[in-house]
Amino acid sequence: MAPSKREQFGSSFSFIMAVAGSAIGLGNIWRFPYMVGEHGGGAFIVAYIICCLFLAVPCFVCEAVIGRRGRSDVYGSLERLAPKSKWKWLGGVSVFAAFVIVSFYCVVGGWSLDFLVRSLSGRLSHGDPDGASILFKRMSSGTLEPLSMYVTFLLATALIVIGGIKKGIERFTKITTPLLFFLMVAMVIYSVSLPGASAGVEYLVRSDFSKMDAAGWACALGQAFFSMSLGIGAVLVYSSFMKKEDSILKGGLWTAASDTFFAIISGFAIMPAVFAAGFEPSAGPSLVYETLPFIFAKMGIEAPVLSWIMTMVFFLAILSAALTSSISMFEVCIEYLVHRFGIKRWQAAVAFLVPILMLGVPCVLSFGPLSEFKIFGLTVFDLCDFVCSNVLMTLGALAFAIFVGWRMKRADVFDEFTNGGTLGFSAKVFRPLYFFVRWLVPPIIIIIFISNLL
Ligand code: PFF
Repeated sequence: MAPSKREQFGSSFSFIMAVAGSAIGLGNIWRFPYMVGEHGGGAFIVAYIICCLFLAVPCFVCEAVIGRRGRSDVYGSLERLAPKSKWKWLGGVSVFAAFVIVSFYCVVGGWSLDFLVRSLSGRLSHGDPDGASILFKRMSSGTLEPLSMYVTFLLATALIVIGGIKKGIERFTKITTPLLFFLMVAMVIYSVSLPGASAGVEYLVRSDFSKMDAAGWACALGQAFFSMSLGIGAVLVYSSFMKKEDSILKGGLWTAASDTFFAIISGFAIMPAVFAAGFEPSAGPSLVYETLPFIFAKMGIEAPVLSWIMTMVFFLAILSAALTSSISMFEVCIEYLVHRFGIKRWQAAVAFLVPILMLGVPCVLSFGPLSEFKIFGLTVFDLCDFVCSNVLMTLGALAFAIFVGWRMKRADVFDEFTNGGTLGFSAKVFRPLYFFVRWLVPPIIIIIFISNLL
């Protein structure tokens, strides 16, 4: 496709809503609050903000520079910017990583759909609280129910992406990303007003810097990359649809700020409720899917209507956060096929649905019939999560930084970053940022990556 014919986001706002929508997802809602508690409360938040500002934002800029200058999918952009080199294979790895992530991410997306459906009928807010907390295990360990929700969530993702950038992704994320914000604010108000919620607030704000060891920093970095959707080309592909006059730095800073803000308010939405219910804050999906139904059901005894509304609000928020993220991963995959083989978007989507289902079905069943099937001691779901979140995304972000810092010409990077020298503030920060990308970002990522693996 000729660069001039490429679709574009209608405005800078639309671009930011799409990338922020990709960034704000399940990683913010269940992973971040738990990590904050485990790694010293406020101390982890400080480390996370440092990682975001000094590592994730520069890596975001690198992906955006490659995408907007390359004006193609990940593979095609790298091929265009480094012709006849092996760099394009990095694009191949990114597409593979995006395919694996979307396959397992949709499992959790399917659960939120399931819980939203249950909440509509009032089954979550009006049931027995003890039954509500074990509902998740019963549902996720089943076969037909989680599979059908998985397929529905995946098809919804595919349909939005088939709609294209303007009619599909832009239209959807421009509504859902701001909506998500209001839904979560409503949830925070509800959560902190619960009796006994102050312990949850305390859990989030106390700072214990002694807990921020190497592992804590590794978690902060991994979380920053996962949360900002870095390392698999999602930011790169979205940036390839960005207008030439929009600011890359503004996009990066807005994404980092809204993503961090959202992670923090998710903490304040969830932890007070967890403490109010007398639960121990525990890791992973259980926090959201076991604890909160219990709370909603408990509240339902005294305030059935409020509890019914808040249950729907909460699971709608999770569902829309998950969808705006999954569409960005799916877009990485189908853009690749569209460009490589010149096929239509719907054909590319159908072609990718087959392998996604082949990997996704064992991921869904990892919580039920296949829970004993382990590879390197991990279920299929956990293995996919580990390989992508801990290895492929970090190495991908590192490779994109090396590409911009060492392979592209400095003048080209400057030109793209400052829109031909017309953006005064971007021109001012270019020098330190470029120095960072060349000399500091790669070694820091390598050190943290190795210490994390050890
Ligand atoms: N940032 C998303 C989250 O926090 O849930 C996850 C994600 C989305 C990772 C898109 C990678 C990606 F390309």
